[in-house]
Amino acid sequence: MTAQIIDGKAFAATVREKVAGHVTRLKEENGITPGLAVVLVGEDPASQVYVRSKGKQTVEVGMNSYEHKLDADTSEEDLLALIDKLNNDPAVHGILVQLPLPGHLNEDLVINSIDPAKDVDGFHISNVGLLGTGQKSMVPCTPLGCLMMLRDHHGSLSGLNAVVIGRSNIVGKPMAQLLLGDSCTVTIAHSRTKDLPEVVRGADIVVAAVGRPEMVPGDWIREGATVIDVGINRIERDGKNKLVGDVDFESASKVAGAITPVPGGVGPMTIACLLANTLTACCRANGLAEPDGLTA
Ligand code: GUN
Repeated sequence: MTAQIIDGKAFAATVREKVAGHVTRLKEENGITPGLAVVLVGEDPASQVYVRSKGKQTVEVGMNSYEHKLDADTSEEDLLALIDKLNNDPAVHGILVQLPLPGHLNEDLVINSIDPAKDVDGFHISNVGLLGTGQKSMVPCTPLGCLMMLRDHHGSLSGLNAVVIGRSNIVGKPMAQLLLGDSCTVTIAHSRTKDLPEVVRGADIVVAAVGRPEMVPGDWIREGATVIDVGINRIERDGKNKLVGDVDFESASKVAGAITPVPGGVGPMTIACLLANTLTACCRANGLAEPDGLTA
């Protein structure tokens, strides 16, 4: 079997088009322009690249982008004061504080100071609780993107065995909640899981989110399974820099039914879902109907 490639780049483009269409209507019919504020503390090069990309795509779908770049030694008090200002700014519908934060800042405290209604990352403790109890919430962008691709590929996910490898707050845990919400039988596996290969072999759906280059080989994958690879790992091979996922694409794509490539799979969906979340937050803030197909 040769796996169908799930083209996240193309899928993300359709999500952005949908968002842009809704934004145009919001402007014309309601005189509202959704606004996303992104806060970056310090000069982490990877974070700078992400933040630039977020700002660019926000403007491309017709939204307002507000970038706040703060020095690495910014005090917690100053950062919290900025968040308070953004919480109270009616032009700002979404707030994202880029992680990781410099070590002297308490990440939990900072994230939990964001108005949950504007928490487009879905990391606020209230949103985590709402998702866990099946209530309407803001959903973390990367798992939301994975869910959209899985729904598109399978239609219904009901009754499927899903194995999520990785238990992070950003991907693994919310991914498991979303799959449970779609009536999958969900296993969360991690570095201490006994006989991980056997656990993964039981999966109709594998979501790999561990951050270890090519750790899932093809012989862990059940024939015909759907593989979603969240990993983005920079490695050096044959003297060249290369991006690889958490799954060994070469061997896994020979047994899987469908698989996301790296790059061009989950990666582009994350920012597309951030824009979708900003639109959702803006609609909710204004008591307007939420767009179909852009939320969990
Ligand atoms: N750093 C890496 N991924 C993310 C993300 O999804 N959101 C934020 N805020 N920071 C990140």
